[in-house]
Amino acid sequence: MPELIPFLKKDSIDKMVAEVAHKISSDYKNRELVLIGVLKGAFIFLADLARHLTIPVKIDFVRVASYGSGTSSSGNIRLTKEIEIDIKNKDVLIVEDIADTGLTLTYLIDYLNSFGPNTVKVCSLLDKIERRKTKIKVDYPCHEVKKGFIVGYGIDYNENYRQLPDIYCLKF
Ligand code: PRP
Repeated sequence: MPELIPFLKKDSIDKMVAEVAHKISSDYKNRELVLIGVLKGAFIFLADLARHLTIPVKIDFVRVASYGSGTSSSGNIRLTKEIEIDIKNKDVLIVEDIADTGLTLTYLIDYLNSFGPNTVKVCSLLDKIERRKTKIKVDYPCHEVKKGFIVGYGIDYNENYRQLPDIYCLKF
């Protein structure tokens, strides 16, 4: 079994989430904001983020599958759950747990733009900038991470560890 090395405690995650929620609430005041959570990894972050917002929002989810590599996106991306609410002329904020190569976000931004939204922006709890392969911008990054395998707070390794309240680095 890999060892779990503590990386971010729940307290610091809470602070980051509250801070970014405050900024989003102010930036999207009097706009029609739709949060789109990317399943599965973002489910806990989105739940906490939404409860910290002080503006009304609508919430939907997409599910993206990527094939061809065990631990990161291969670029061979397929949508396995579509959006269900109308985002035409709405302001959309994609909510991700982690932006890694950026391939998932590139795909999703294109997909969401095809519905004619007013804006599409990105909020990601973790941002692995140094692994980026595409030119996406994370508009609301919370915490930068270097290389390493991250789990907890929604993020998995082989579908394990998603339920952990803290975030860890896996040591094999
Ligand atoms: C992870 C993460 C992002 C994506 C980021 O999802 O939640 O959606 O990878 O990688 P990229 O920037 O290299 O495209 P994953 O495919 O592990 O699925 P999951 O959210 O269901 O765990």
